[in-house]
Amino acid sequence: MFLNSIRNFSIIAHIDHGKSSLADCFLELTQALDDRTKRDRFLDSMDLERERGITIKAQTVRLNFQSADGKNYQFNLIDTPGHVDFSYEVSRSLSACEGVVLVVDACQGIEAQTMANSMLALENNLEIIPVINKIDLPSQKTEEVKQQLKNWIGVKEEEILLASAKEKIGIREILEAVVKKIPVPSGDRDQALQALIFDSWFDSYQGVIALCRIKQGCIQKGDSIYLKGTGRECEVLKLGVFTPFISELNELKTGEVGFVITGIKDIADIRVGDTITHKATKDTPPLEGFKKVKPMVYFGIFPVSSDDFEQLKSALEKLRLNDSSLTFEMESSKVLGFGFRCGFLGLLHQEIVQERLEREFKLDLITTAPSVIYKIYLHKGEVLDVENPSLFPDPTQIARREEPFVMAQIHAPSEYLGGLLKLCEDKRGEQQGLEYIASNKIILKYKIPLNEMILDFYDQLKSLSRGYASMDYELIDYEEADLVKMDILLNGKAIDALSVIVHRSQVQQKGRHLVKRLKELIPRQQFQVAIQAAIGSKIIARETLGAYRKDVTAKLYGGDVTRKQKLLKKQKAGKKRMKSIGQIEVPQKAFMALMKSEK
Ligand code: GTP
Repeated sequence: MFLNSIRNFSIIAHIDHGKSSLADCFLELTQALDDRTKRDRFLDSMDLERERGITIKAQTVRLNFQSADGKNYQFNLIDTPGHVDFSYEVSRSLSACEGVVLVVDACQGIEAQTMANSMLALENNLEIIPVINKIDLPSQKTEEVKQQLKNWIGVKEEEILLASAKEKIGIREILEAVVKKIPVPSGDRDQALQALIFDSWFDSYQGVIALCRIKQGCIQKGDSIYLKGTGRECEVLKLGVFTPFISELNELKTGEVGFVITGIKDIADIRVGDTITHKATKDTPPLEGFKKVKPMVYFGIFPVSSDDFEQLKSALEKLRLNDSSLTFEMESSKVLGFGFRCGFLGLLHQEIVQERLEREFKLDLITTAPSVIYKIYLHKGEVLDVENPSLFPDPTQIARREEPFVMAQIHAPSEYLGGLLKLCEDKRGEQQGLEYIASNKIILKYKIPLNEMILDFYDQLKSLSRGYASMDYELIDYEEADLVKMDILLNGKAIDALSVIVHRSQVQQKGRHLVKRLKELIPRQQFQVAIQAAIGSKIIARETLGAYRKDVTAKLYGGDVTRKQKLLKKQKAGKKRMKSIGQIEVPQKAFMALMKSEK
């Protein structure tokens, strides 16, 4: 295939605007799938993706398209996720493309991720093909959405295409626009090989599979290759493309996108963002990689049974391979035993990882409340990055404390403005701007401590706007804040995994809320339990959990001890997710409920 017949592009959109449905239409029109292999949302291959109806991992597929001029083109289509937590996947996918199809819902109009992803595309100098999808819906506001695209993304009105993935309207027109508008890939086939790894994953039979964009040169089966970043040398065992089924080839040339299998089993050796070249041309300069993504929130993840620790470790290692934003390090808790402190890009990211660990690796886990990284300046001059509340230093050693802030951009219909302002103010936010993008649509900018955003901000935003508001955020800086560590005591014993870091102004309110929630969540025990929140030695709030009215083993007193054990064991069944803390059973829900604010 000649270089000028290749087009590499992504579809970008806000979540649920119809990106995967459009990708399905492209597959159908180019006859990549027949009736036997067809299924909805083909590119969302993970079970979890299908169930939740969202795209998590980017997928790539090669399509053959015959345009109206009778010529054949090779399209490499890279699907991208739409949720705010996964924008790093979007930016990586974009590095393999020359252009994007920007999909906007005809009813919803421009949303936060539409803006964020368009900005990413513009920063990467990519050609944008704007498409308004779902024009079949009776509530479509196509004309209004056209104006938004014109005013906010800067596209020309005549360039906007109208489509319906459901009714299969306008699909061919989009593909023709891809041929006409998306630039031909650049690069010289005769130069030394430079291939950018933009995704990779682990396969238990084949080892690590790397997805690459060949920037220049050519890679063939059997070649001896060299990985610039890690210095590993290896041989290409297989290479090929997804059509969407695996199709092996003998070579991948400049401008093309495909997978390379080397038989490397160690997941650390093939890094996303690394450059592949030939062993013979080791000195070829590397391509610009990707910015390392920094996790935003941290959770402790512990196996319910301590025997599963090694299994959890290897599961996390496998997941990290195709999710470079996942970080983890070992942590130990007095009550939960050994586990990992894991860093995530956001809450959805955490939920997805936890579900994958439980589902794909059959692990039973306990997750602690989330935390962000605080900067703690000590009198000795040392600066600590504290992301685990139980490691918060003694207050007498601390000179100053800082917490991270994000700039949040909220898109919403203007009727919800009042509620949104209150929400942001309650979360210690500082308003930075308010603009109208249409007569009834606003963009609200707020500077908010990340700590306030991480648990339920998004849920509250969605519920108070009936699902209409959308949000995007980026980390801006650290600022001084009066932070303290709050301990939770059960019968006078501090439970390290339940400690949280809070702003001093919220100590009373949060303390009271926490002990009240814990009282609801911890099942009654056979004895009375005092639940207390404390700052240092000062008790802020207290609740008392009454004892069981009836002791199931009472009637056995004096009987055979094995019968008593049997009864207790039975009582325990069904409380699978509980971890015994001393003698008090604390359910998983309690850990997560900690930072959720009062409803
Ligand atoms: P993520 O993968 O989560 O980012 O979402 P997405 O952008 O891929 O959206 P998806 O294709 O899953 O579509 C979201 C919903 O809109 C689904 O229920 C689709 O059936 C529906 N939908 C997509 N395109 C159309 C359309 O043209 N018309 C109508 N009426 N519904 C559509």
